[in-house]
Amino acid sequence: MSARPTYYLHSYGCQMNKLDSELVESRLVQAGYERAPSEAVADVVLLNTCSVRQHAEDRVWSRLGVLRVRKRREPHLVVGVLGCMAEEHKHYLQARMPHVDLVVGPSAFGDIDAKVEAARARNAALRPQFDKHGRARLLPSAGLVAVGAGVSGDTIRRDVRVRPARAQAYVSIMRGCNMPCTYCIVPSTRGPEVSRPIAQIVDEVQRLCDDGVTEVCLLGQTVNAYGRDLQPKASLPELLYRLHEIPALRRLAFITSHPNFVTPALIDALAELPKLARYLHLPAQSGSTRVLKAMQRGYTRERYLERIAALRERVPSLDLHSDFIVGYPGETEAEFEETVSLMQEVRFAQSYVFKYSPRPGTVAAELPDDVPEAEKARRNQVLLALQAEHGLAYNRALVGSVQEVLVEGLGEGPDSRLHGRTVHHRIVHFAADDDTLVGRYVPVRIVQGNAHSLVGELLPDDAYQGEERHAAAAGRR
Ligand code: 5AD
Ligand code: SF4
Repeated sequence: MSARPTYYLHSYGCQMNKLDSELVESRLVQAGYERAPSEAVADVVLLNTCSVRQHAEDRVWSRLGVLRVRKRREPHLVVGVLGCMAEEHKHYLQARMPHVDLVVGPSAFGDIDAKVEAARARNAALRPQFDKHGRARLLPSAGLVAVGAGVSGDTIRRDVRVRPARAQAYVSIMRGCNMPCTYCIVPSTRGPEVSRPIAQIVDEVQRLCDDGVTEVCLLGQTVNAYGRDLQPKASLPELLYRLHEIPALRRLAFITSHPNFVTPALIDALAELPKLARYLHLPAQSGSTRVLKAMQRGYTRERYLERIAALRERVPSLDLHSDFIVGYPGETEAEFEETVSLMQEVRFAQSYVFKYSPRPGTVAAELPDDVPEAEKARRNQVLLALQAEHGLAYNRALVGSVQEVLVEGLGEGPDSRLHGRTVHHRIVHFAADDDTLVGRYVPVRIVQGNAHSLVGELLPDDAYQGEERHAAAAGRR
């Protein structure tokens, strides 16, 4: 047994949460903790949670139920709820789940190590009473609650060595969201927009690149609104040009963009900077102007389509990705059909489709959730099937081309397939039993296109023809 205290961290939700989990881990490792091989043997169990839909929350509640059983046998165990659910349920989480020692919101985990230490010290001092079945009476929680604006994760000077992938890293450039979308709980759990200064981001990316990272994905809830709160103001294009100068950086991406901040300067950057990944995640949410207005998205169907047209005109090689919500309160069949037609018109390379889920405290939660569940499920299926058709057409069009693939890992199948990503972020599987390729860029000839992935064959390193590569990047549809 190791003498060091151990932790196990479950991460739910978006990329921002994944990065937050990395920062939490980095902090704990710096403080002398070690990652446990499984939850069952960890001294500290942390759940970094998501509130965006009820389904995500249900998974956390059930995991907490399992942990309650363990805590009765091991009262010294530390259980922490981090992230959006901590913020959302701060007033009663511990009343409902007295075995939870720590409740830490997404803006307050910058000193998570100190909080975990305090909970451990408190639990170590407990003198629990066990019944004849060996179960301890659950003692009242320590009540260690940190929510609202606390010590932000961005104050953590990141230990760049703590990261899951050798060549890839997420970097948060802003936190929070100032948009008024009526269905969304994020602005209330993550608070208002706070951008990080350009110099701090450049320093972090430089340090990551010095440690072997070549692909960086910048994160923000509305990433292209970056910098408007800074003094002096900054912008995403400005940041992209700065980061582009880092020689070791080969690919640079950013998610998630809001249609209202697709400026001419951003389109210029996408057209001019060769290291920028060839995809843009630009959620439409709906194709109906009436629904978009009800959602307070701040654009009409026509304006969204205009932005798409402007992007495609300047950057024809760009893949477009979207999110959609079906079954928003009052969404009629005809309005849903407008979403279908928007999808047909744009032909996204990839889309996520969600059934509307009322979030307590949001504006939309006050409205009747009047689209029946079965109808939401049907609309969801319709969009997913259409998206699969479009994804398939996109991917089939690449058959025969040679793509530059950043190798991400070894598959789990018996044929040891590797997988990686093209510059369009499309996933490619190819046969090779050589894990030394992980983290490298290799040429792969595409032999098959599926709805959600590509299959290819590895080529020798010198198979790259400059022209072929360019043609592959330009191929669309
Ligand atoms: N119900 C369903 N989907 C939602 N999203 C955000 N809030 C909700 C909700 N209440 C979706 C949006 C967003 C994505 C991250 O999650 O499509 O772009
Ligand atoms: Fe939520 Fe809208 Fe902000 Fe996205 S832009 S996080 S959907 S409020």
